[in-house]
Amino acid sequence: MSSIFLPVRIEFGIDSSTRVGSEFSSLKCKKVMVVSDKGVIDSGLLEGITKSIAENNIEIALYDGVLPDPNIECVENAKNFYISEKCDGILAVGGGSSIDTAKAAGMLVTNQEPITNMAGVGNVKNQLPPLITIPTTCGTGSEVTNVTVVTDENHFKMPIVSSYLIPKVAILDPSLLLSLPPKLVASTGMDALTHAIEALTNNIQNWYADSCALEAIRLIGKSLRPATANGNITDLSQMLYASTLAGVAFTISRLGLVHAMSHPISGLAGVPHGVANAVLLPYVMSFNSIGNPQGYAMVADALGVQKQENEIAAARAGVEEVIKLNHQLGIPKSFKELGVNEELIPQMIEDTFKSGNVAINPRRVTKNDVEQIYKKSFSGESPLGFME
Ligand SMILES: NC(=O)c1ccc[n+]([C@@H]2O[C@H](COP(=O)([O-])OP(=O)(O)OC[C@H]3O[C@@H](n4cnc5c(N)ncnc54)[C@H](O)[C@@H]3O)[C@@H](O)[C@H]2O)c1
Ligand SMILES: [Fe+2]
Repeated sequence: MSSIFLPVRIEFGIDSSTRVGSEFSSLKCKKVMVVSDKGVIDSGLLEGITKSIAENNIEIALYDGVLPDPNIECVENAKNFYISEKCDGILAVGGGSSIDTAKAAGMLVTNQEPITNMAGVGNVKNQLPPLITIPTTCGTGSEVTNVTVVTDENHFKMPIVSSYLIPKVAILDPSLLLSLPPKLVASTGMDALTHAIEALTNNIQNWYADSCALEAIRLIGKSLRPATANGNITDLSQMLYASTLAGVAFTISRLGLVHAMSHPISGLAGVPHGVANAVLLPYVMSFNSIGNPQGYAMVADALGVQKQENEIAAARAGVEEVIKLNHQLGIPKSFKELGVNEELIPQMIEDTFKSGNVAINPRRVTKNDVEQIYKKSFSGESPLGFME
């Protein structure tokens, strides 16, 4: 059985963000909390957006306290700000950190219980205030997903999954990505690629999600290199479209071992989400390949890799392509290069197994397997070792 539930309207187009005021007007909002971070604000991305809101006679309260990988304190602060400013709608402008802060704050406004009670799947009881999202990176897909990720006191990145977290409207305006530094185009683009590959290859089969994932992989294979290299609007548009498609795919089909293992790397060692995924992706693809050779052969094909004599060979060529892509994008080869302390591995293994994405990974995983993958990705040993 396949089931699809994605109640979000998606508006796509250059300068589409300047119509956000009329969206809030249709939602009958009087005062909107805009959630963003300093990097986005300093890049001037809020100007056209706040003008559009003001032109619709709607007040604005700006919450600019978003931190990377937002923690409980950051989202509680946003909730308190919303209440003290008497807002009645929320706008997130930024990357996944801003969007996730907005989602979690909205959830706390209408659900008066500790955030930790809502961790996991299906534990949010009440609808959020009206939420509109405007992504400014090309990675997380959070603008359409049913997830927010909040870091707890133990540095555990706690996913909260509920269809109430799906925003009302997502406005995709590629012109907002023109200021995104090449390193962030690359790393957030690799996050999107990881979403699409995991949603396509894991144990959850869904024709709609698989179509979205395949198209996302194809677009990323074509556009991530030029978008990083020269930031042209056509390739950035394709990347933004692809990251949203990948978000649609994983809202329906969920993820896999890369995300289960990358969250501890980010939570415990502060490695940006996209970078942590990019480093792990070829290792996990290589490890997983015998679990779903057909799926990984489809990944290779969508990435534009030359046809091979069989699925195993195609899966291997897909891993080689991702290794090459990482290298060309300037993604570090190992967590050692990123200065991550190897002594964190035992805690990372523990945290990996708290993720629901382990159970749907296309290959069964033991603690020893996860340790091997971490060890190889720390030292930078060839990911192809798992395929020998
Ligand atoms: N909810 C979901 O579905 C979901 C999915 C994947 C990841 N995430 C979460 O998203 C977070 C990562 O988000 P991210 O990778 O988008 O990064 P981010 O939101 O942390 O932003 C990274 C940096 O980019 C800057 N930036 C963003 N857009 C810019 C622009 N257009 N111009 C200049 N600078 C810009 C920001 O100021 C920030 O300094 C993590 O916490 C991760 O767990 C959530
Ligand atoms: Fe991700």
